[in-house]
Amino acid sequence: MAGFKEKNNILHIDDIPVPDIAAQVGTPAYIYSAGVIKNQYEALAGAMDKVFPAGRKPMLCYACKANSNIAVLKLMNKLGSGLEIVSEGELFRGLKAGFKGGQIISTSFGKNDAEIAACLKADIHQFNVESDDELNNINRIAGEMNKKADVAFRLNPDIGGGAHDKITTGRKEDKFGNTEEKVVELYRRATSMDSVTPVGLSVHIGSQVTKVEAFKPAYIKLAGLVKKLRSENMSVKRLDIGGGFPIIYNNEDLLDLDAYASWVADIILPLDTEIQMEPGRYMVGNSGILLSEVLYVKQTPSKNFIVLDAAMNDLIRPSLYDAYHGIRTVENTNNDKTVCYDVVGPVCESGDVFAKDRKLPEVNGGDLIAIESAGAYGFSMASNYNSRPLPAEIMVDGGKFSVIRPRQTLEQLIDGETIPNWLES
Ligand code: LLP
Repeated sequence: MAGFKEKNNILHIDDIPVPDIAAQVGTPAYIYSAGVIKNQYEALAGAMDKVFPAGRKPMLCYACKANSNIAVLKLMNKLGSGLEIVSEGELFRGLKAGFKGGQIISTSFGKNDAEIAACLKADIHQFNVESDDELNNINRIAGEMNKKADVAFRLNPDIGGGAHDKITTGRKEDKFGNTEEKVVELYRRATSMDSVTPVGLSVHIGSQVTKVEAFKPAYIKLAGLVKKLRSENMSVKRLDIGGGFPIIYNNEDLLDLDAYASWVADIILPLDTEIQMEPGRYMVGNSGILLSEVLYVKQTPSKNFIVLDAAMNDLIRPSLYDAYHGIRTVENTNNDKTVCYDVVGPVCESGDVFAKDRKLPEVNGGDLIAIESAGAYGFSMASNYNSRPLPAEIMVDGGKFSVIRPRQTLEQLIDGETIPNWLES
């Protein structure tokens, strides 16, 4: 079975013992199970398929900001997913991985000219529009390129979802979306523009939405807005209900997919629109670990620190959002004694902490540690801070694994940097 399990006291990913990967690739390294990603995709698609009739199946557009390695994108593509992108770079990756323009939705908040032009060139399915100026810009660039862009407008429902303030997007004070009145105004304007076609609406209230009951009123508002637009004879044929579905970091309640699918269908099916979804974290989050080696164990009068070879530059979520990630030892042969540790990285900031006061089997230098639920917003948010090379990425599928991105080398770290002549002399 795909996923993480302990066999003979050793953590395995699918059928591969994790220490075998460490021996070949080193640490720190992100390791993803292709099987888990596939299971996640099929669970969501399957739940929706049960209630949405043929011809009305939702278009699942994987939000690739969660994990944009092109092997992951290829896997999503092979599973039949569409793609949600937020930059020219993500478009580039998506096309490289084999997505066709018609499978891609752009939701970026501030779309620059180059990105808009690249999206138009690729004939993407839809632009989700955030503001007046952006609408004007898409219309202008599409006109210059003799194209016509399908645009949807993002509603700000003033309903917050999201596990942390910084990843909540649906409140009125957030920068995202527009009020109902503003969406109507934008829609009207777009109707009279030459190079855009208003096709629908979108909403996305936040990420890791653990209060799953928050989705419903947002979708109900979206449905209300469809009726309002139609009452003014404007055509609304697509609804994008966003992403934000939670995963397990620490015993969270998950979305009951069947219940979710059934009330989404109750709200959306009568409207007779196409439906799109943008799940990111849900597809990949629980598929991955960040594998790290213990460099040192350090004791101070107040604490026991495990110093890992991974740091906040590799996985910034705990530092940035105080996010919880499970942490486990990989080889558990002599683990009777447990110790309370702070698990930290080598970066020169006190914020470089993966976990505080975590009870773990006693560890020693050289032991392997897995940081769990790291498949989403892990590598994709990694940086070179402290001039630390980016970690390797590995994909496991059953009994085989491949390096899908080698560890960055020191030479690559300074690639493109130049010293001006006037400093050389
Ligand atoms: N659609 C839009 C318009 C979004 O802004 C996002 C995420 C998604 C879809 C996908 O959301 P998901 O299904 O993955 O929750 N770096 C943060 C998460 C930021 C999410 C940004 N937008 C973290 O590590 O928790």
